[in-house]
Amino acid sequence: MKIHKHVFLSLFALLCTAASALVFIAHAKNNAAGWVENWDVMTSPYFIQIAPGESLIFPNVSDAQAQDGKSLELRLAAGSHPGPGGGPEIETNKQIGYGTYATRLKTADCSGQPNAGVVTGYFVYFNDGSDANGNGLPDNVEIDFEWLCAEPQTIYLTMWTDYRDSDEAHKRVGRAINLQSGEILYSCYFESFGACQPLSGIENQPTTLAARPAYASDSAYYVYGFDWSADRVTWWMKDPTSGQRIVLWDYQGSTRIPPAPAYYMTNVWHTAGWTPPGNPAATEQPTAPVSIWVDWTRYEPPGNSLFLPLIRR
Ligand SMILES: *[C@@H]1O[C@H](CO)[C@@H](O)[C@H](O)[C@H]1NC(C)=O
Repeated sequence: MKIHKHVFLSLFALLCTAASALVFIAHAKNNAAGWVENWDVMTSPYFIQIAPGESLIFPNVSDAQAQDGKSLELRLAAGSHPGPGGGPEIETNKQIGYGTYATRLKTADCSGQPNAGVVTGYFVYFNDGSDANGNGLPDNVEIDFEWLCAEPQTIYLTMWTDYRDSDEAHKRVGRAINLQSGEILYSCYFESFGACQPLSGIENQPTTLAARPAYASDSAYYVYGFDWSADRVTWWMKDPTSGQRIVLWDYQGSTRIPPAPAYYMTNVWHTAGWTPPGNPAATEQPTAPVSIWVDWTRYEPPGNSLFLPLIRR
């Protein structure tokens, strides 16, 4: 009996040592590169804050709906000029690459002005005008989640490899989803803001989505994210009840995925020309300030789980 107990205790101690060594290795590896910004600070070590014109940015705002009671408010001013440059944004102070990106976000609420044209964007972006792949168009590294405030149940997912400002010639794939109804509005490859070339096969998965009648991006925080690698980009969100991943678009293919790295950004801006299918009149300049809310913003390099513990800074 005594021997058995002794052997058992030794084995137990050995297992504990091994387990804590593994935990230590996993933890150390993860902490080396993954991070989360909880926005309970005035200046982030990861992000710069850009607020043009009358736009305002408020970090460390008390918010009972935020998981830590604090969030970041990006406030687009009334009368803002059209285009992303006319609105407030956060942008990483360096480019980052492949990996998992996630945020907990509440989009612009235009219920007070139903025809306002306002875009909420959560994305990575880089375009310095160079054409490394030599296809005749400037390379444009960009993977987007976007919402138009006039139709907060619709999510626009887009991935760009090329974009030329002068004539808007480009190469991109895009999918739009009305998540309330579960309808996939389109999944296309585009070379202009015109004709859709429908995607199929591994570029167009999943082909159906469940209806989520309660979904409205402007009425509650949701966790959104994407996994970016050289041959696969998966856009997903978390089911607010179960915490399970809802895969919105699992794109595979090699030629239409932009190479890393890029800046990691979130913004809100006025559009005078991009309208949702259900409201072609939604082009108005906002007549009152419109805000988006970011509870946290996270990045994990390839191979890291989104669910490992983190040390923020
Ligand atoms: C954040 O806000 C709290 C009040 O809610 C304040 O006590 C704290 O000092 C603020 N933090 C910073 C970094 O300003």
